[in-house]
Amino acid sequence: MKVIKVKNTAEGGKSAFRILQEEMASGAKTLGLATGSTPLGLYKEMRESALDFSDMVSVNLDEYVGLSADDPNSYAYFMKQHLFTAKPFKTSFLPNGLAADLQAEAQRYEDLIAEHPIDLQILGIGRNGHIGFNEPGTPFDIPTHVVDLTESTIQANSRFFEKAEDVPKQAISMGIASIMKSKIIILMAYGKEKADAVAAAVQGPIRESLPASVLQRHPNVILIVDEEAGAKLL
Ligand code: GLP
Repeated sequence: MKVIKVKNTAEGGKSAFRILQEEMASGAKTLGLATGSTPLGLYKEMRESALDFSDMVSVNLDEYVGLSADDPNSYAYFMKQHLFTAKPFKTSFLPNGLAADLQAEAQRYEDLIAEHPIDLQILGIGRNGHIGFNEPGTPFDIPTHVVDLTESTIQANSRFFEKAEDVPKQAISMGIASIMKSKIIILMAYGKEKADAVAAAVQGPIRESLPASVLQRHPNVILIVDEEAGAKLL
């Protein structure tokens, strides 16, 4: 795993953007995108760039169950707000959190990833080491699936919702196996609350109780961390 240490999220965004630019120049057509605060620096760089994404496909990692694309807390809304309105892609896929048959929706999404193999996947990491919404204990070989969110993730997400009972308890997430098929992965982490998860992901044993540790098995992962998130790296 290549590690890039940066001063702050803005610098991390620039660093990730440079890699994205290089990959697009060498033919990358499909981007795997993430939500959360972590990729915001990168999305800012993308919005403010002269790059054109109208020939590209994006595939997002996950979506909450029960929220429509118009709900300001949905990941579809987040992506429009932070990237797609300013920089539309040819096609942008997210799981449909309102699907009547969630299992069928997960399968549809997995098929779609097979049709559009991801050249470059952007990842954040949860405080408990989750990637996408693959919570600790998720089997490494799992494709896109319906997830019951853990209490720690529900709590971390509650800051965006007015009432605790409004925080979704389920999501549809690309699986660990789906994520691992990406050609290149950029994992970004900022802030001291990510330090333990980052250290365990990079230098701990590879184990399902720390989902991000699976990335040690991927041949092409670039980790971008600020000082706080990288503080426990050897
Ligand atoms: C959510 C998302 C993840 C993200 C994580 C961290 O759980 N599903 O994709 O990596 O939050 O969020 P943040 O970047 O805000 O720290």
